[in-house]
Amino acid sequence: MTGRLEGRSAVVTGVGSGLGREIARELAGEGARVLGCDVNDQGGAETMRGIGEYRHADVSREPDVEALIADAVQRFGGLDVMVNNAAIQIEEELAETTEEQLDRILGVNLKGVFFGCKHAVRVMRPAGGGSIVNIASILALVADGILAAYCAAKGGVLGITRATAVRYGPDGIRCNAVCPGDIDTPLVAAYFETAEDPAALRAEVEREYPLRRIAQPREIARAVVFLASEDSSFMSGQPLVLDGGLLANCY
Ligand SMILES: NC(=O)c1ccc[n+]([C@@H]2O[C@H](COP(=O)([O-])OP(=O)(O)OC[C@H]3O[C@@H](n4cnc5c(N)ncnc54)[C@H](O)[C@@H]3O)[C@@H](O)[C@H]2O)c1
Repeated sequence: MTGRLEGRSAVVTGVGSGLGREIARELAGEGARVLGCDVNDQGGAETMRGIGEYRHADVSREPDVEALIADAVQRFGGLDVMVNNAAIQIEEELAETTEEQLDRILGVNLKGVFFGCKHAVRVMRPAGGGSIVNIASILALVADGILAAYCAAKGGVLGITRATAVRYGPDGIRCNAVCPGDIDTPLVAAYFETAEDPAALRAEVEREYPLRRIAQPREIARAVVFLASEDSSFMSGQPLVLDGGLLANCY
């Protein structure tokens, strides 16, 4: 059986850990040629060993993102799938957030996605199309009071997603976002570690979910495969919520 992405080329940002690592594996497993980037070169290279190519790129720097996409085009002859996954998190409520913290979060989580979309459409357009998948969060739709800058950035990711879909749909480019709830990755583990009793905080968070657990990275990566592939051929400009039922619950 051939993969859903056989013969396609893909770029994934933030492959050094967590969800990005799993997305790179799933895309490659579906037959795509994958170029991954990260600022954590050790983790990034480890992920891509045997499944694709790795290149250092800081997504908050536009020249890095432009060079990343040019590299993919040179290696693979084009770009069919762009996954803007890299992000950071800083726990701070709005009133205490410094300008420096805000700039850091917006630089990676918002500008990084903007640059990824911008340079992907520049190469996808003349080639006749492609699929862009932006990793947002349920925090693009609802809030966590101690993640003010993160919420601002993720809300913006949906704005970029819609603007890209609307403007470049006529060029055959689809752009969608995934909005996951908590995923079992180092980013969330670091959040649990901020508590005096990390295991108790984890259990408390899991109890909030109707499915009584948080997501495994593969469960989100499979949705990215769906959005990257022709299986979602008439879907564009939309957030796909993967939250174990969390937002459906009014209590
Ligand atoms: N883990 C969750 O619960 C959760 C929930 C919703 C959404 N998300 C989103 O999923 C995505 C992946 O998160 P994760 O949980 O795997 O986090 P993670 O911290 O495990 O991995 C993020 C990766 O991005 C890389 N990165 C950070 N800054 C970068 C930069 N400037 N340039 C390139 N790479 C950079 C990191 O080095 C790391 O390898 C993020 O967009 C995050 O906001 C995560």
